[in-house]
Amino acid sequence: MADIIDGKAFAATVREKVATHVARLKEEHGITPGLAVVLVGEDPASEVYVRNKGRQTVECGMNSFEHKLPADTPEADLLALIDQLNNDPAVHGILCQLPVPDHIDEATVINAIAPEKDVDGFHISNVGLLATGQKAMVPCTPLGCLMMLRDRHGSLSGMDAVVVGRSNIVGKPMAQLLLKDSCTVTIAHSRTKNIEEVCKRADILVAAVGRPEMITGDWVKPGATVIDVGINRIPAPERGEGKMRLVGDVEFASVSAVAGAITPVPGGVGPMTIAVLLANTVTACCRMNGLAEPEGLTA
Ligand code: GUN
Repeated sequence: MADIIDGKAFAATVREKVATHVARLKEEHGITPGLAVVLVGEDPASEVYVRNKGRQTVECGMNSFEHKLPADTPEADLLALIDQLNNDPAVHGILCQLPVPDHIDEATVINAIAPEKDVDGFHISNVGLLATGQKAMVPCTPLGCLMMLRDRHGSLSGMDAVVVGRSNIVGKPMAQLLLKDSCTVTIAHSRTKNIEEVCKRADILVAAVGRPEMITGDWVKPGATVIDVGINRIPAPERGEGKMRLVGDVEFASVSAVAGAITPVPGGVGPMTIAVLLANTVTACCRMNGLAEPEGLTA
């Protein structure tokens, strides 16, 4: 039976490190890091997410700035707000919650954020910096996965890593991070031939495809570390009429019988994302002020 990697507990230790560093920034430099979150429209899931971000930001001792704009906000108005936040010295991190409404171009918005304040790490400059092994702002979810992998293995050098999924938010940056840590990296996706065989070579298997329970125990090398980024809601008739349950991209029962370690869903990667966002905000604040970065919270 695999060890369960407790993302909830890990996220709590990340938040503690963030809070300690924030306290030091205030005490020694009189600086309070600030995170601005912009939400366009009224998507209920996004609203919950934004509220959680705001609460955890304040709990870590940082300033939280929330900007909620109506769904029909013109793109020019959103870009004007981003420009204002780019020029606000109290704001060290800017995040525009995705997805944005259809009339707004996502790439235009992302690339309008000042790269040094881009705590999502989605700006083309940060993507390029990461790809060339330079100091970048790194996307939160893959960075959280890397932290958990380093915690379990120490050095990842020479390990075979397979990332299933090629999204800009998780798959591609995850592959870059594993490559930077000297893994032999394969990106598998919907067109990959013999995907089971490819996965079975992995010492580290990261699943980020958004297909419920796609990866089963017979795809996994005995003793492998399996990181499940998927969060899928599926019908759960056994819990009653119309009930749903959360599952990952990994079939937990069969994979946990083979793997050496596994992140559960929920309670694995999920809680790490906001914790790393807070860490990225502190990192951005330190870099902007020419101060030492928090240890263990960067790539
Ligand atoms: N929507 C869902 N996940 C994310 C994320 O990591 N960043 C942003 N900006 N929007 C999201």
